[in-house]
Amino acid sequence: MFIGTEKLTHTYMPGTPFAMEALKEVSFSLSRGEFALIIGPSGSGKSTLIQHLNGLLKPTSGQVFFEDRAIGSDKTELLKLRRRIGLVFQMPEEQFFSETVFDEVAFAPRNLGLDEEQVRTGVKDALEKVGLDAELLYDRHPFQLSAGQKRLVALAAVLSLNPEVLILDEPTAGLDPAGRRHLFLLLDRLNRDTGLSVLVCTHHLDEAAAFANTVLVLQGGKVILSGPAEEVFAKRDQLYNLGLALPAVTEIMYGLVEKKLPVRTNIYTIDEARKEINKLKGRQE
Ligand SMILES: Nc1ncnc2c1ncn2[C@@H]1O[C@H](COP(=O)(O)OP(=O)(O)O)[C@@H](O)[C@H]1O
Ligand SMILES: [Mg+2]
Repeated sequence: MFIGTEKLTHTYMPGTPFAMEALKEVSFSLSRGEFALIIGPSGSGKSTLIQHLNGLLKPTSGQVFFEDRAIGSDKTELLKLRRRIGLVFQMPEEQFFSETVFDEVAFAPRNLGLDEEQVRTGVKDALEKVGLDAELLYDRHPFQLSAGQKRLVALAAVLSLNPEVLILDEPTAGLDPAGRRHLFLLLDRLNRDTGLSVLVCTHHLDEAAAFANTVLVLQGGKVILSGPAEEVFAKRDQLYNLGLALPAVTEIMYGLVEKKLPVRTNIYTIDEARKEINKLKGRQE
């Protein structure tokens, strides 16, 4: 198993009247190079689950695996693990603490004790990976940037350590439609071009559906569906009942099928829909 869990259970505030079982025997596994989505309504356990994947939370019972080895509690091992599995929190820019974009992105490489030359290269590479003009932004205050740019700087700060797995918690929260699209296209490119494994938690399928290979659906702390994206998204009614709507464009394709038009329903982008509908025109002419 590249990364995954076995019967992972997590209880917040155990043994108190506030005890809350946020994950219940969650088992899943992902292969290297995948683009996976963890979806589920608010409170279903998504954020709790991903904080286990790089050892920020400890299982109440069960285990977390990385490269076939159970993650333990040895401090040095955990630090190494966090270099290889990067976690981008929800609204990460709220945690910015540096005076300049450069220092913000340089924090992790400096913390590793790299020399300033290596830090400089790391920061430049990371900003370039997210498509930002490094030289132009170095001296800017992070809070002077647009919402989309701040999110990209936060992403660069995690990429500066060259992780093998990138986990993002609701990465498009608070972004406008162009920012959301840009972010997913970027994640898709990083996944394809560099082999980075990507794991995204979200409750919006609109932008995310087109990019996923694998999907894990949580409800009330339990895995209720998982598998290849096509199979999971085919369970439209079940997802709908959880408040997880398929992309609007997919719903339109289902509407056409109901009108007896021969179109595919595994369509998640406007471009794909346009092509499919154009084929239909061809058939009728
Ligand atoms: N620090 C915490 N202390 C107590 N309960 C928590 C804490 N964090 C989350 N929970 C609870 O655990 C459940 C799962 O939360 P979370 O993992 O944040 O879900 P999601 O990310 O899917 O919205 C929710 O019922 C939530 O209220
Ligand atoms: Mg969450």
